[in-house]
Amino acid sequence: MEETGYSDDGKSIIVHLSTHRIMTQSNHVPIQLFDPASSTYTYILADENTREALIIDPVDDQIERDLDALRQRGLKLAWTIETHAHADHITGAGMLAEHAGARTAAPAGCGIATAAVQLHDGDVLNFGNEQLKALHTPGHTSGSMSFVWRGHVFTGDTLLIGGCGRADFQSGSAEDLYRSITRVLFSLPDDTTVWPGHDYHGRTQSTIGKEKTDNARISGKTMEQFVAIMHALDLPKPKRIDEAVPANLSSGMRHDAGGGALMDARPAAGYAGDVSAQLAYLWWQSGDAVLVDVRTDAEREWVGFVPGAIALAWKQWPGMAMNNAFEQGLKDAVPAGKKVLLLCRSGVRSIAAAKRATELGLEAYNILEGFEGDPDQDAHRGNRGGWRLHGLPWRQN
Ligand SMILES: [Fe+2]
Repeated sequence: MEETGYSDDGKSIIVHLSTHRIMTQSNHVPIQLFDPASSTYTYILADENTREALIIDPVDDQIERDLDALRQRGLKLAWTIETHAHADHITGAGMLAEHAGARTAAPAGCGIATAAVQLHDGDVLNFGNEQLKALHTPGHTSGSMSFVWRGHVFTGDTLLIGGCGRADFQSGSAEDLYRSITRVLFSLPDDTTVWPGHDYHGRTQSTIGKEKTDNARISGKTMEQFVAIMHALDLPKPKRIDEAVPANLSSGMRHDAGGGALMDARPAAGYAGDVSAQLAYLWWQSGDAVLVDVRTDAEREWVGFVPGAIALAWKQWPGMAMNNAFEQGLKDAVPAGKKVLLLCRSGVRSIAAAKRATELGLEAYNILEGFEGDPDQDAHRGNRGGWRLHGLPWRQN
């Protein structure tokens, strides 16, 4: 878990906030969402007029909650944004980009190569007619950023309520953290609302003015005193760091296909298994399996399609709502005794679809890498695996 300044024992659990907690409906106030497993706050900001929105620090386990929150308000997700490469949870950015059509943005200093936009200090992201400004606030990690929107600042793990993030891993620096808090964040107006990346005690927000006077770690402290406090913390290694940081360097997408052809199905939790595009093609051509493309109509139209595959969207615009015809369509498409192979853009939606197909009694397989594969260093798809890159049949209208 991330460090809090109060409880480092990992036992602080907030029970009075539900995962569906949603703070507000009014204009120009962020929607605050909470993940109890990691005590992470995720924020949705929206332009009330154009309905364009962005999300800060989404969590992979909360994708459905986040998509629901967007859908309920009729919001179109333009951006997913990270404050840093997290050590305590895996980001939902890559999956949200795929499900909701958002673009990914992350601090340039965090090494998140899959993010479409690499943010530098002072950069501004537009969503509708609203603007979010990036501030480089190193210390918790060397690339960490905070984000300012109107009278709000989203501080990630740089400044927490009454505390701050730890600075002892991921090229963190207590000296940098002191400078980022006292010179960058504390130069914002005192009435700026502080929205932290975590809280372990049920607190939801603070202000710059309050943190200047009440923050146990930093109020009235010299840099030397602050550094001594931080060095004396002697915290355990975050539980999920070995798993979370590598995953977060690719926006939470796991590159588990290995690049080569996988000519055996690999068992998976919740469905029959994962298969390479090449193996899927063999099964399909031999008549052992039905191939179902779960992408949207628009994706097939614009990116390309597999002639002869059954088109059955898992989610569909507007709003990427569940396609109510999916289950019946699947039952109609797959004869008894045949396997079903599920294909999406990069192998994420098809996992959800394979799990649902399994619940419906089918022997369901996810096709690794999907039609286009994961994005490359330049955020272009089609160069890192997928049905099309492997030379399997496809067409474009
Ligand atoms: Fe963190």
